[in-house]
Amino acid sequence: MKPQANRPLRLALAGFGTVGGGLVRVLQENGELIRQRTGRDIEVAKILVRDVHKARAVALPAGAVLTSNPADLTDDPTIDVLVELMGGIDAPHAIISRALDQGKHVVTANKALLAENGISLFQKAAEKGLILQYEASVAGCIPIIATLKESLAGNKIESLLGILNGTSNYILSEMSSNGLDFDTALRQAQELGFAEADPTLDIDGHDAAHKLVLLIRLAYGVEYPYTAMPIHGIRGMNKMDIEFAREFGYRIKLIAQVNEQAGRLEAGVFPTLVHHTFLMARVGGSYNAVRVKGNAVGSLFMHGRGAGDLPTASAVLGDLLAVARQVQPNNTGFVSQSFERAAILPPEEARSCYYVRVMVHDNPGVLRDIASAMAEEGISLAQIIQKPETGGAVPLVFMTHECPAKAMKNALARAVKAGLLRMPAVAYRVLA
Ligand code: NAP
Ligand code: HSE
Repeated sequence: MKPQANRPLRLALAGFGTVGGGLVRVLQENGELIRQRTGRDIEVAKILVRDVHKARAVALPAGAVLTSNPADLTDDPTIDVLVELMGGIDAPHAIISRALDQGKHVVTANKALLAENGISLFQKAAEKGLILQYEASVAGCIPIIATLKESLAGNKIESLLGILNGTSNYILSEMSSNGLDFDTALRQAQELGFAEADPTLDIDGHDAAHKLVLLIRLAYGVEYPYTAMPIHGIRGMNKMDIEFAREFGYRIKLIAQVNEQAGRLEAGVFPTLVHHTFLMARVGGSYNAVRVKGNAVGSLFMHGRGAGDLPTASAVLGDLLAVARQVQPNNTGFVSQSFERAAILPPEEARSCYYVRVMVHDNPGVLRDIASAMAEEGISLAQIIQKPETGGAVPLVFMTHECPAKAMKNALARAVKAGLLRMPAVAYRVLA
């Protein structure tokens, strides 16, 4: 195919870390392919960093200028597109907002920004007819944003769930398969470039929740405020629970999920038991996966690397190619950029089966008393195992039938009040 003689697309890169470095590498490696697909070259003109003197793992592209002054990027009239790969919220918001004011298209991988303060940017982009693409912000290289916005646009989405945080999945996989402890696995994820600059976002479930907010906007066209989202991460995950879950035939995964129940959304991020026969249970390492159910398409499953330099750069580059081809902006997948607040099912009404581990005294009647605390809240037990004493207490592990979150909370409160528990109980949802 003969490339058209179009002028190069000039980009300004805000951030030259894991993803920014990966993008520069892929641009160099796939330059010819990009030319064949778009008829244009992509040139990196400016790169914004905090410290211009820091040694860099990736060489500066030929002709690119390193700067620590955002205005060098946003106010340069020769720049066509700003690629924001710096992270954070306030600083990138200001830079993207200024870039849009200056008529530049924007590509970002920043889910925290878009989830917590993204609507004003989408509105500004729409007013100005500019592209604001963000495929890399959810599930790394998996094209879930384009899929919801375009391929599945004719469907009513019934439910969506996924493993959306590579760091947490890496930690859980390493603890489960290689016997690593939590801190060692987290350190490895940081070294491999998966973790956020502040890894508490990963392990406390906030990164997955940011991504879920973006997917809910695309799937349902409403705003489910991040601050209203029930979020439970994997901090403090005990190897004991991973092993007990295995005995019941389950893997523990950090699942972000939403489904519609009679016009209201039930959503959240929870450590969840997933039966080993489900594809979702086999998603290992830093991989992510998303399962979407639409009323026409049925169930669809996507799997791929959820983090890391080159996989994430692949998604950024897909967005850049869309800019190079100058498609009509369709940034949120909806005509209006004002999202009504979602009708939210109160989290305590959400129904699920549960895995419960309590640490108790090995005394007669304790099992009966725990079971009756459950029964008084209408919770029916499906399976029970008792394990040998460890650390001065006996683990009692239950699988329950489906019950509302409130019933489980009340039952465990009853057990605490009756002095039955030697340490706080663990209760995880089980994927149906
Ligand atoms: P990173 O390795 O920490 O790199 C951040 C880069 O941005 C660095 O070059 C840093 O400059 C620069 N920077 C940060 N704050 C700045 C500021 N206020 N002013 C100027 N420069 C600033 O981060 P990353 O892992 O590449 O992640 C970048 C973004 O991609 C984040 O939004 C993240 O959530 C998202 N993301 C990451 C991944 C992944 O696998 N890592 C995957 C998907 C999405 P210095 O180098 O001088 O410090
Ligand atoms: N820290 C994120 C993760 C990067 O571990 O999934 C990808 O968004």
